[in-house]
Amino acid sequence: MIKYLSSENLKKFSGKTCLLRIDLNVELGMPLDSYRLEAVLPTIRLLLKNDVRVVLMSHRGRPVLKLEGQMKGVKDDWDFDRGNRELSLAPFTKLLAKKIIEPVCFIPYEKSFVLDKKKFLAEHRERVFLLENLRFYRGEETNDDRFGEFLSRWGDFYVNDAFAVSHRADASIAAITKFLPSYAGLLLEREVKNLNKVMKSSDHPFTVIVGGAKVSDKLGVVRYFWKRADDFLIGGSPANTFLEAEGMDVGDSLVDTDAVPMILPYLNAKKIHLPEDVKYRSTKILDVGPKTVKAYAEMIRRSKTIVWNGPMGWFERKGFGNGTRGIWKAILGNTKAHIVVGGGETVTSLRTLYPKRCLPGSNIFLSTGGGAMLDYLSGKKLPGIEALK
Ligand code: 3PG
Repeated sequence: MIKYLSSENLKKFSGKTCLLRIDLNVELGMPLDSYRLEAVLPTIRLLLKNDVRVVLMSHRGRPVLKLEGQMKGVKDDWDFDRGNRELSLAPFTKLLAKKIIEPVCFIPYEKSFVLDKKKFLAEHRERVFLLENLRFYRGEETNDDRFGEFLSRWGDFYVNDAFAVSHRADASIAAITKFLPSYAGLLLEREVKNLNKVMKSSDHPFTVIVGGAKVSDKLGVVRYFWKRADDFLIGGSPANTFLEAEGMDVGDSLVDTDAVPMILPYLNAKKIHLPEDVKYRSTKILDVGPKTVKAYAEMIRRSKTIVWNGPMGWFERKGFGNGTRGIWKAILGNTKAHIVVGGGETVTSLRTLYPKRCLPGSNIFLSTGGGAMLDYLSGKKLPGIEALK
């Protein structure tokens, strides 16, 4: 059983400090104000309301640490190169402060090594703190116990509200739970409950929509739902890969060549639907065409359960958003089905393509997870969730 944050344990920790793992991972150049950030605010507010101070921690991007060799001590290991500096979490400080309407104190990398962390917190008036990008520290991605212990000194208890990275056995996700009482936050709880619902759903027609960049990432979901789902609507690069495997010339389109042998068992299966028409730019397929949108939208309209991960095309590019827009239109129009949509890009595409629309209806759950949602829906055990049991 996952240990959730309850009013009882909140009472117990009143006056204490929570080390809260969140996921602020946004690509460079993308707006910092993401759906993921919005989704963790309820947990931060709940903790503050219960007189709990909060030390936030997150990773961002995949910084390359140039110093090789064994971990001598977490301190000397970060390579302060410029590429990494761009991945600092410092710019989130102002934004978070604006959202929670109170000051946030950023703890730079160098300062994170203060010996007495509790004293450091006591000397500051702020109630919310933000640590530097966890992936600047060598022990994070190796799930090093020493780094888990180092982090644990910042709090009296630990809450994981970073579903999107819970498929990674990182120190701030897994090792840390050996050192502090650990719980799942509100976001993690919502993710688990909503994804479980769709995994158990027996309402048909059951439709799985896959798009985005890599078919190999999505195959687990296709496999897991193969017997249960009625239709698989394929778009994006997975569609290019299927079309090429079927013998079509897809020019210079993005194809996941390594995945071709893995998709062979699914070729020509009735349940697999491939685009009837596509939109090219020069020799590259960048979107599905109008006939495909019409056919897919029709299937979405009559579905009772829907799982969607990955846009249909390069929606950010002018002229190539219609495929994804058409799928959203059909999804938003189906107010009866039980629907989960995930993958950072898919969720972002809603904001990009329908900037004026507020959040979708209550039958639609927007997952903050990309790879994490796919792994969870593929029936895999997520290290971050297992550690909370
Ligand atoms: C994500 O964006 O899917 C998560 O934050 C995990 O990031 P990662 O794939 O770099 O581990």
